Formats: sequence, C-alpha cells, structure tokens
Amino acid sequence: MSELRYSFASRVSNLIPSPLREQAKHVQTADDYIKLTYGYPSNQAFPIEKLAKLSDKIYRQHAVEFMQYGETEGIPKLREQLKSRLHQYQNLDVVSNDILITSGSTQGMDLVFKIFVNEGDTVLTEEQTFIGAVNAIKSYGGHAQGLPFDMTSGCIDTEALEATLSADTAHRIKLLYLIPTFQNPIGTSMSLEKRQEVYDICQKHQVMIYEDDPYGDLLYSDIESIPKIKSLDTTGIVIYAGSFSKILAPGSRLGYLLAPKAVFDKLVLVKQVADSFANLYWQYLASQLIDDYDFNEHIAYLRQLYKVKADAMVGALRKYATKDMTFVVPDGGYFISVKLNDDIDSNAFYDALDQRHVGVIPGNVMSAAGQGYERYFRLNFTLPSVEEIETGIQRIAQAAAVAKVKQ
Ligand SMILES: Cc1ncc(COP(=O)(O)O)c(C=O)c1O
Repeated sequence: MSELRYSFASRVSNLIPSPLREQAKHVQTADDYIKLTYGYPSNQAFPIEKLAKLSDKIYRQHAVEFMQYGETEGIPKLREQLKSRLHQYQNLDVVSNDILITSGSTQGMDLVFKIFVNEGDTVLTEEQTFIGAVNAIKSYGGHAQGLPFDMTSGCIDTEALEATLSADTAHRIKLLYLIPTFQNPIGTSMSLEKRQEVYDICQKHQVMIYEDDPYGDLLYSDIESIPKIKSLDTTGIVIYAGSFSKILAPGSRLGYLLAPKAVFDKLVLVKQVADSFANLYWQYLASQLIDDYDFNEHIAYLRQLYKVKADAMVGALRKYATKDMTFVVPDGGYFISVKLNDDIDSNAFYDALDQRHVGVIPGNVMSAAGQGYERYFRLNFTLPSVEEIETGIQRIAQAAAVAKVKQ
C-alpha cells in the first residue's frame, strides 16, 4: 500500500507527543527501576474502601442519573459543594464567578486557551512550567513565552512581566498562565506580595491570569497557606483551576474552573463541543464523598503521607547529593527541582542515571522554550516509597559523580 500523506491542520503540525505520556506507556521493566518521574499520587493515597461503599450507595440512589446524559456545567450538587469550599476556605468570590466541572484540569486549560488564543497569540508562562499547558497553547497556534523565574521568591520577574506587557502594543498577549502554589516543576510558591504585584500588572494591562492550582491543598510545612491570586480578583481577570487528580484520583478525570460569569458562559459553549459533560459517575462519587466524609480529614491524611516522603527526599539529597547539585526545599506539592553544578556534563549525567535505572524529568521537557534547562531536573516524591527515594537519590549522586567534567 502506498503511503498516504495526510493533510493535517497547521494547529497540530508543531505538536510533539508529551514525553511524559510516552514514557508512561513504555513500561520500565527492570525490577530495580526507581520512578521519580511522573506527577502521580501514591497508591496509598486513594480512599478505596470509602469509595467502594459510596459507589454501592450511588448505584442504588443515582444510577439512572449518572447513566443518562447530564448538564454541561456539571452536576449542581458538586458545583455547590465546590463553591462552598472555595468560598469558605479560600475566600473566593462565588457570586460573580461560576464553576464549570471539567474532564480533569487538563481540559480546563484546553477550553480556556480555545476561547482566548488566536493563531499567533502569546501566552506568558513561568520559564519552567507544565508541559501540558505549553502543548495546549501550541494546539491553538499560540506561542508559550516563558518569563524569567526567581527561585528565591518563587515568582516570575515582575519587571520582565511589566516590560513584556508594555511592549505588546498589538495586544497579542492573551493570558498569563501561572502555577503560583507548589509550582510544577520547581516546587516553590509565590508570596502574597508577589501575587498582588502580578495581579496589579495584569490588571493594568487587561491581561487574563490562569491560576492553575492542582497542588494547593498539599502543604507540608507550618507556614500559613497563601491566599490564591483569584482571591485578589476584583475585576474579573483571573480564572482559577482546581483538580481532584492530586488529592483524590487522577482516574476520576475531575477538574473545575472558577471563572467570571461572561468567561464561564463561553467555556460552557466550548465544553459542549468538546465532550458535552464530565464523567457523571465520578461527579456523583466525589460529591457523595464530600457529603458523607470529612474531605479535610482526607487532605490532612495526604499531607501526613507526603510530608514523610518530602522530608525523606530532602534528607537524602542533603546526605548524598550536595556536592554536585543544589535543590529547592518545597513547602508542599509533589516535586523537588534540582540543579546540577556547572562542572557536571548533563548528557553524561542522564546517561549514567539511565544505566542506574532511575527516572527523572529533565528540565527541558518542562519548559516553555524546550531548551536551555538541561541542568535542571524534577523529582517526584509522592509515588516512590521512602526506601526507593533513598536509593534513588544515592544513585543520582553516583551518576553526577561519574558525569563530572575532568578539570
Ligand atoms: C500544573 C498542572 N496542571 C494541570 C495538570 C493536569 O491535571 P489533571 O489530571 O487534573 O488533568 C497537572 C498534572 O500533572 C499539573 O501538574
């Protein structure tokens, strides 16, 4: 059969498969392979017994509802529960904003970029950022432009933000995409002052902010939790995105957007086109979980579980790996970002790591530019056991030692 040349649309011609998804498909077969790679929750994090009971209950009480077609916005009960939680715990305005339940927060960003990004538009991001967002921006012909990031303040360079927005006289910059709390891949959080500064700059230039917050509940240190950028939003420029993936189960594919009413209306339209509505079974299940159990207690359990692992990783890095690399101690979330010292050959390091059967995410993969961050790599501490963490970091230290450039 002669090979057919498909005439794909230009919006997909510059997309490459997410290396994260591709690697996830490729099973690492070695028994001693240690995955510090993906942003997966621990297998101990799922409240399986509770969900099994609740599943039985919702089958008896709501089977017909969740097997039927449903509302695009999401089931009313879950939307109300989320609004109530966001208002009570985060002081978010749930009157001039509305909630759309999405198929994971991945769909949330897709829908938002779909309604704002024209071919040739720009979305600003942190220079190292979530690859899923970069790909979603590109899929609408947009350009993801990373802004310099200061590891100490956990914030993009606000002078660069101001200068970039001032220079954009053609108004091609549509959004600023940020992960302000327990950033992926860096792990840092923006201070309240920085959040206000960023909000004020975007407000002045009338540029929307997408606040991506899948990790916000997972605080491990005793610092006070920092208000969301959305809580500062008096003018309707911030879209807040939450997810059940990191705090319940990624298999639920449940996320949500809290957006100003006019934006919400457009999101509902494109959600109808995309998939009509998010999975109803999981919407009922999550809603029943919040009703019948104390969801805050579940989050408290996750914090305990993950704090032990985060501490183990920080401890192991301090014990084995300070000679050849530096790292940022996170206050929460799923990740620690590490930077190799200048005298380490990064290619040799990743090869040596591969030979030692440890998976990490190299910085270039999680960046807007896709290059220039090879000295950085991201480590996940939620999926591996404490023992795997210890061994994994030991192997990372060995790989760095063999990759040292001879003086
Ligand atoms: C910053 C960020 N946003 C969004 C997502 C997507 O999450 P979901 O499973 O809700 O689609 C992830 C997943 O890793 C993430 O790290």
